[in-house]
Amino acid sequence: MRVLVPPDYRTLSRTASELVLKAMRTKRKLTLGLPTGNTPLGMYEELVRSYREQQIDFSGITTFNLDEYLGLQRNDPHSYRFYMQEHFFDHVNVPPPNVHIPEEAGRYEEQIREAGGIDLLVVGIGLNGHIAFNEPGSSFASRTREVMLAPETIANAETHFQGAPVPSRAITMGIGTILESRCIILLASGASKADIVRRALNGPVSESVPASALQTHQNVIAILDEDANPDEE
Ligand code: GLP
Repeated sequence: MRVLVPPDYRTLSRTASELVLKAMRTKRKLTLGLPTGNTPLGMYEELVRSYREQQIDFSGITTFNLDEYLGLQRNDPHSYRFYMQEHFFDHVNVPPPNVHIPEEAGRYEEQIREAGGIDLLVVGIGLNGHIAFNEPGSSFASRTREVMLAPETIANAETHFQGAPVPSRAITMGIGTILESRCIILLASGASKADIVRRALNGPVSESVPASALQTHQNVIAILDEDANPDEE
């Protein structure tokens, strides 16, 4: 695993966006796995800026989001579809038919296969070590499926939902699905993540820390800002 430690969140976001752009230059019909949450917001801003300023062409891209809440309307402002439109898809030229959000688990795996598999997947990490919505205890062989959210995940989502009820179920790409991506970028920012980053990257590989599965992958780049870097404490 390569570990990059940019000094701050802005540089983390630029580094992540540069890696995505570099992959796009290498392969025009790139298939991307995309995350939500606060951490990737800066990366999306940088990608949108590159599109505006340098006219980077996203028309060959196919995307698969990592997860989505269950039981929300398609246009619910708390849904990950809404987040992706608002922060990314409304501002770049990814063709809408190439955009995939796991609102139904059914054909997702097949769609990923039909797209040739995921070339580059960007993922964040939850405070309990989850990746996408694979909560502690998820099998490393798991595939895209419906899951129950952990109580701490629901509690953490309350700020984002601003008083609206947080769904208790979601659809997530499985850990097995994530691990089949050719390259994985893990993003973590802020001091609150340092402890779980340590357990995920340096601790035992265990289903009790889903992100530790990344240690078993041959091509992972972890981008941690200084606050999230356990070695900086
Ligand atoms: C949610 C998402 C995850 C994300 C995590 C961390 O639970 N389902 O995919 O990695 O939050 O979010 P944040 O970046 O806001 O800390």
